[in-house]
Amino acid sequence: MKQILDEAIKGDYGVGAYNVNNMEQIQGITRAAKETKSPVILQASRGAIKYTNMVYIKYLAAAAVEENPEIPIALHLDHGNSLQTCKQAIALGFTSVMIDGSLKEDSKTPTTFDENAEVTRSVVEYAHSLGVTVEGELGTLGGIEDGVGSGQVKLTDPDEAVKFIKLTGVDALALAIGTSHGAYKFKAKPTLAMDIISAVAAKVPATPLVMHGSSSVPQDLIDIINAYGGKLERTMGVPIESIQHAIKRGVRKINVDTDGRLAMTGAIRKFLAENPAEFDPRGYFGAAREAVYQSVKGKMIDFGTAGHAGDYKPVTLEEYKKIYAL
Ligand code: G3H
Ligand code: 13P
Ligand code: ZN
Repeated sequence: MKQILDEAIKGDYGVGAYNVNNMEQIQGITRAAKETKSPVILQASRGAIKYTNMVYIKYLAAAAVEENPEIPIALHLDHGNSLQTCKQAIALGFTSVMIDGSLKEDSKTPTTFDENAEVTRSVVEYAHSLGVTVEGELGTLGGIEDGVGSGQVKLTDPDEAVKFIKLTGVDALALAIGTSHGAYKFKAKPTLAMDIISAVAAKVPATPLVMHGSSSVPQDLIDIINAYGGKLERTMGVPIESIQHAIKRGVRKINVDTDGRLAMTGAIRKFLAENPAEFDPRGYFGAAREAVYQSVKGKMIDFGTAGHAGDYKPVTLEEYKKIYAL
């Protein structure tokens, strides 16, 4: 992942990191990557690893790589909660891990700067010895997704972020700029703390910055779900223009989970409502895969990722081991 993000700095664009839990999501995302010629980050949360019973996520991602040799694909652990979890993901073949040391191992309680730096430093030491990329996080997001999150927002202090990067050696850093996880982010168009991105990027321009909670929660997806029996409340996500501003200021990795969930749910509800006699799962899962493809394709164009897959040749973990050892 380090290479994908470092190249994004050079080319001044953003790369989506899309949460995956099953074959249809992986196929929809990689089809979009192939067609738009985009590098891509597939990320699996601890919940996803549990849901897929670990080994399935490994082979599903390997299948995507085998089918798309022309696309740089990283498999990344999202919100790792401990060194132990990161080690488990690395053993499975993940080429990148996030240690979310902004929260304690329970993924709920905020940590101090020192606690965060210590656990992050230990993951960096272990992962880099194997050539694996590490993302850290400083500050906390709002919202709680499946038990992940403190529910409190603590925006990142730019000076602390610079100190944190130097102290830990992380390859990428997630900043809290006012976004939150999940579908219920904002009631109206949000004002995000874009100055934090600029302040950190000005001091450590070589470190790619990460934006979590970046789903746009498009109204048309909410409408499809509600038109076919769903009950989602009025809500707003992060507008695409805000993401584009963030990219201009130095965000290179954009985390998206919720929009994929909304796209799949809407497509499945619609398919089943329109085809009441259908009971072949390939019908509704196929519709869900198509909806993920459409959603991600748009993002690859909007984030500026499209067209960059062939800019460079992927470097192996063995080569990265040597780079990290320098
Ligand atoms: O950042 C959190 C992601 O949305 C992961 O959600 O734990 O339900 O897979 P999950
Ligand atoms: P969303 O809930 O906005 O999709 O955020 C996902 C995320 O940040 C995963 O780490
Ligand atoms: Zn996140």
